[in-house]
Amino acid sequence: MTDSRVPRRRRYLVCEPRHFAVQYAINPWMHPDAPVDVDLAQAQWQALITAYRTHGHTVDTVEPAPGLPDMVFAANSAVVVGGRVFGSLFHAPERRPESTHYDTWFKAAGYDVYRPESVCEGEGDLVWTGRYVLAGTGFRTTREAHSEVQEFFGHPVISLTLVDPRFYHLDTALFVLDGGHEENIVYYPEAFSPGSREVLARLYPDAVLATLDDALAFGLNSVSDGRNVFIAPQAEALTSALADRGYVPVPVDLSEFRKAGGGIKCCTQEIR
Ligand code: ARG
Repeated sequence: MTDSRVPRRRRYLVCEPRHFAVQYAINPWMHPDAPVDVDLAQAQWQALITAYRTHGHTVDTVEPAPGLPDMVFAANSAVVVGGRVFGSLFHAPERRPESTHYDTWFKAAGYDVYRPESVCEGEGDLVWTGRYVLAGTGFRTTREAHSEVQEFFGHPVISLTLVDPRFYHLDTALFVLDGGHEENIVYYPEAFSPGSREVLARLYPDAVLATLDDALAFGLNSVSDGRNVFIAPQAEALTSALADRGYVPVPVDLSEFRKAGGGIKCCTQEIR
């Protein structure tokens, strides 16, 4: 099966980390006293963009705004399925102004943007599998937002409860490997409530299960095109588990962004 995985070309929206910093603490990874190496962050981010382009993906950029140090985490700004854009309403007041900048980008690109009434952090908590929207709650996105998402897209929304504050967004605990009929995911079970774990086990009996070390290395914050998996090199066990299943791990080190509680997927918004 090693050579049977077929990649699908993607379109990603990203935001350059020109103003990236850790200036407040809204998750357990953030320590405003610990400095961020701005040049290293820039170089790491550029390596991610190069990796996407080298693998044939289209990358669009939104202009970063001064004073919004987390704006680099493009995934949190929206979820886009079938050209329909469900915007964001951030939990933290510090991040709320980001939504307007992304909405402006989407509108200029010809999309209508739905503004949620409840707290909702885009692909941080809403993961499109090709069939369902897996929807995290517990720390950021609310259950009310899950209902709004289902009404908006008309796709089944599966609510999942996150229980470990280190994995405060669904995309820190789970990612999609393949969509369509081969739909499969990777996740770290202990990040979820017992009932949510059971739901995932029923829906994805063949899922790849990650270890705590993989999760702490932000290995679950990966991006897959169906064949290539852009993944933190520190997630060693997961990297070899994926290779065993016929995927091609593409290591991209975003260690500076971990200081803000982010990784590869956090920096990547997929436009479908
Ligand atoms: N500092 C940001 C926050 O706490 C990090 C967001 C990471 N993004 C993600 N998709 N998990 O909101």
